[in-house]
Amino acid sequence: MTDSESSRPLTLRDLAAMKQRGEKIASLTCYDAAFAAVLDSAGVDVLLVGDSLGMTVQGRPTTLPVTLDAMAYHTACVDRGRRRAFLIADLPFMSYQTFEQAGRSAARLLQEGGAQMVKLEGGAHRADTIRHLAQEGVPVCAHLGLLPQSIHRLGGYRVQGRGEADARRLLEDAVRLQDAGASLLVLECIPALLAEEITLQLDIPTIGIGAGGHCDGQVLVLQDVLGLTSGPVPRYCKNFLGGTGDIRTAIRAYVTAVRAGEYPAEEHCY
Ligand code: KIV
Repeated sequence: MTDSESSRPLTLRDLAAMKQRGEKIASLTCYDAAFAAVLDSAGVDVLLVGDSLGMTVQGRPTTLPVTLDAMAYHTACVDRGRRRAFLIADLPFMSYQTFEQAGRSAARLLQEGGAQMVKLEGGAHRADTIRHLAQEGVPVCAHLGLLPQSIHRLGGYRVQGRGEADARRLLEDAVRLQDAGASLLVLECIPALLAEEITLQLDIPTIGIGAGGHCDGQVLVLQDVLGLTSGPVPRYCKNFLGGTGDIRTAIRAYVTAVRAGEYPAEEHCY
């Protein structure tokens, strides 16, 4: 049994070692204790309390109205249900505008929520905030590509980094954020080739969502994996529940597919 399969809680060092060994990291969003227990026992390595809870749990159209109170509440719920999985919580929209505010917001997610890491969205302009948090002992996951907190500026949920200049900027941002102290990087909705290049350039693990199969790990929104999302879903989504009829089996199938490099397949990539 390898360390990553044992039941002791995973740490950042374990995730870094998985990248070194070429072992894929399987991650899912999670918002409550019951699902945390199911996902954890199915072998999910990282539980992300995403601000996607604004849509999946609260029924809102975007992540923007999600409050720090809501993030702290759901993070604490997830923390109570997990044993082994690493726990990341999103800093919600406008909760990390200054060093002081970022520090206070992160402290709530770590102290009240039990998170081991916070995630924040944005490129090179976030480098100083990441450096500040890292220096204070707060592990940070950066998030590049499609940034749902900037949806009104972006004008829609679209693939990012398609042009040469945009791709170069994303690669430079990734390096800047790693150099500033980010320990993990989520890449959302970017071409698979670009995500591969970023993953090769960085020492820290990359976790992709709609970013192809060469990232060090994958994350999906739990509701998408269980086919609970109504309306059209992005092409990277896969319903793992269809055909099994059992949630535990579906989550195990997701973990197995990620570890084997079978998810995402060609049809899930840009
Ligand atoms: O909020 C979220 O769910 C995310 C995604 C990357 C899964 O940030």
